[in-house]
Amino acid sequence: MTSVHIAKRLSEAKRPGTTEVLKVENLQVSFPTDDGLVKAVRGVSYTVHEREVLGIVGESGSGKSVSSMAVMGLLPKSARISGAISYRGDDMLKMSERKRRSLRGRKIAMVFQDPMTALNPVHTVGDQLAEAVLAHELVPYKQAQARAKEMLDLVGIPQAAARLKSYPHEFSGGMRQRAMIAMAIINNPDVIIADEPTTALDVTVQAQILEKLLEVKDAVDAAVVLITHDLGVIAGMAHRVLVMYAGKPVEVGDVEPVFNTPRMPYTAGLLGSIPSLETSGGRLRPIKGTPPSLINLPTGCPFSPRCPMATEVCTTEEPVLEETDGGAHYAACHHWPKLAERADPTAIFRTNSEITP
Ligand SMILES: Nc1ncnc2c1ncn2[C@@H]1O[C@H](COP(=O)(O)OP(=O)(O)O)[C@@H](O)[C@H]1O
Ligand code: SF4
Ligand SMILES: [Mg+2]
Repeated sequence: MTSVHIAKRLSEAKRPGTTEVLKVENLQVSFPTDDGLVKAVRGVSYTVHEREVLGIVGESGSGKSVSSMAVMGLLPKSARISGAISYRGDDMLKMSERKRRSLRGRKIAMVFQDPMTALNPVHTVGDQLAEAVLAHELVPYKQAQARAKEMLDLVGIPQAAARLKSYPHEFSGGMRQRAMIAMAIINNPDVIIADEPTTALDVTVQAQILEKLLEVKDAVDAAVVLITHDLGVIAGMAHRVLVMYAGKPVEVGDVEPVFNTPRMPYTAGLLGSIPSLETSGGRLRPIKGTPPSLINLPTGCPFSPRCPMATEVCTTEEPVLEETDGGAHYAACHHWPKLAERADPTAIFRTNSEITP
């Protein structure tokens, strides 16, 4: 779709640094429910460097939002959390709530999928932006409002001064998402977590918003964790990508090697279902079946019931992430070397009749 233009933007964007701003180590999150323990996140690890864009992709229910809400410290009280989530080397899971709150919205900010849940309908956009400043900084209200106007300008809202007085419902979907991005960057964060920020918007507006996100992240020198269920969005938008399945990362690496030489069948399946990729013959081919229950996970590889390459070992042993081709490309699959032998890995999801007519 729009990836070509976005690709141009990423190559124009500032290069990532080498300093780690956010490090998630073996994050596990489960929820006790009446039906049993929901193991929503089962060992997620990633590192985000200064100015880097990390894409997290996976089908609905794979634990993307739960893991990002854990980073924000916004999970419900019932959640059982373990592992470490460090901001510049400081584990936020061990911090006082006060210190954590001072980081939230200031150093680590979030853009939600639905801005209407994050924006308050009874306050003007200008007041909400100013309040976001005042929550962390003791400045005169006028100064906070001036900053709010500057941010609306930056995210491309026309007539920003007049728009400060508008209520969220007076904005279009795309404008609301721009206002959310303005809110996220207003305190100069180091990390912006954007959870499916454009899913509710039409394709043209999606591209504009994603491009704007890349532009403003450089304006405030922030890194971005971009969460999406659409691998197509990651192309040209992220430096690195982490593919999640059933609460775990199943493939991690720089965007190019993961897209060109996927080493885990699930990633290959997602690639084959992007309509614009030539490797799939131009046809949309979604992966058949549904993700497993997170209460009663099957033994072995959680993808095995849907995987055309599954063998005996796949139903008994869950594969761990291992380095495949060097260059920090990792996959969790017993048979990645077999997938690597294929000229077109996405072809494993074609039926035999499609391969040999
Ligand atoms: N508060 C909760 N209580 C019980 N289960 C939850 C809760 N929040 C999320 N889950 C479950 O955790 C799993 C992962 O959810 P989520 O992270 O939202 O997925 P997604 O990848 O679509 O963002 C889902 O099965 C969801 O139903
Ligand atoms: S481990 Fe087996 S079932 Fe899982 S993705 Fe690899 S081949 Fe498929
Ligand atoms: Mg989600």
